[in-house]
Amino acid sequence: MHNAYQSGFGNEFATEALPGALPAHRNSPQNAAYGLYAEQISGTAFTAPRSHNRRSWLYRIRPAAMHEPFRQRENGRIVAGFEQLATPPNQLRWDPLALPSAPTDFIDGWVTMAGNGSPATQTGCAIHLYAANRDMDRRYFYSADGELLIVPQHGRLQLRTELGVLDIAPHEIAVIPRGIRFQVLLPDGEARGYVCENFGALLRLPDLGPIGSNGLANPRDFLTPCAHYEDREGDFELVAKFCGNLWSAAIGHSPLDVVAWHGNYAPYKYDLRHFNTIGSISYDHPDPSIFLVLQSPSDTPGVDNLDFVIFPPRWLAAEDTFRPPWFHRNVASEFMGLIHGQYDAKASGFRPGGASLHNCMSGHGPDAATFDKASASDTSVPHKVADTMAFMFETRHVLHPTAGALASPDLQPDYAQCWAGMARRFDPQRP
Ligand SMILES: [Fe+2]
Repeated sequence: MHNAYQSGFGNEFATEALPGALPAHRNSPQNAAYGLYAEQISGTAFTAPRSHNRRSWLYRIRPAAMHEPFRQRENGRIVAGFEQLATPPNQLRWDPLALPSAPTDFIDGWVTMAGNGSPATQTGCAIHLYAANRDMDRRYFYSADGELLIVPQHGRLQLRTELGVLDIAPHEIAVIPRGIRFQVLLPDGEARGYVCENFGALLRLPDLGPIGSNGLANPRDFLTPCAHYEDREGDFELVAKFCGNLWSAAIGHSPLDVVAWHGNYAPYKYDLRHFNTIGSISYDHPDPSIFLVLQSPSDTPGVDNLDFVIFPPRWLAAEDTFRPPWFHRNVASEFMGLIHGQYDAKASGFRPGGASLHNCMSGHGPDAATFDKASASDTSVPHKVADTMAFMFETRHVLHPTAGALASPDLQPDYAQCWAGMARRFDPQRP
């Protein structure tokens, strides 16, 4: 197992698996060392502002163009378009996806739950669950549709990418950029989690504004792999996700043959337990944007195509305040998942590996049991929300649940009943 990392977010990394494989000064020397081919991969427009421009130079055994033609294959439970059905405004919640019994690798195990926008126009996102029980064997994958934000809930993943190897476990996340080829091994034999495929602008760290120069996710906690290659020939398959559909091509070698690379377009991982959580120390509960890990901006300043927000263990210290998340309706649409423990706005029903969807302007908030408990709690003393890790994929665009998600046996028919028991408390005689 090879898992050397470089620290930092969006840095100009430089790494070589053989000494001298990286050329000095020139990106494409007339003859690269070791007989390697020089190849650039651009994740942003050539002319994007320098602060957002992402590209890397790869020095590889064969160019990425070397493979047989792609032919369309079965999508399985991956959904390509999101607006075929009427989208219900109902609050929705699902039980965890069952682990498969038939042999299923990471890509076969994707189930699309919801999405918006379109990879063809590079807006929106798709939200998938995955459940798998075997390694990807003789098979490699990339998505041209978007970068993949992978959130494991159960079981470790070894992400063997063109640019190096990332090992992640639950409580960690990984981002694999659009177009980067990879293969997934399951060190624990089975795995389950969430994938958000971001069709829009690349995820970045948010500005911190009045918070100052430190806080939330700190750049040094992001880890990018060092170069690692396999020089392997044989009958392999390259699967591409392109415009929502899966395509398959025969390839006579491992595409993970990059011996050295430099640049700032690269996969990375982050341990959510390193997040510096900031909250109220006087009164009131701040907006969940205070828990923002990564954002994909849209063309409208301050209005994101996608936000990745977490609800980690933290102290609640606000006094004379209703401490759990308040009742609310938002213009944004919220897809939540639970990695571990219990989420503090729900007493029951939201299980690790499960999911919920609260779309634009759909009312939601704490369930009746949580409301009653929080209304009676002693707020003169701080309280630790321990043993929890929840997250949210939040987007400015309405999230359309797929037909499969709406027909799933995991959909909880009685979810909205968690608010049905809210007592009538109003009494005009009792100020
Ligand atoms: Fe919400």
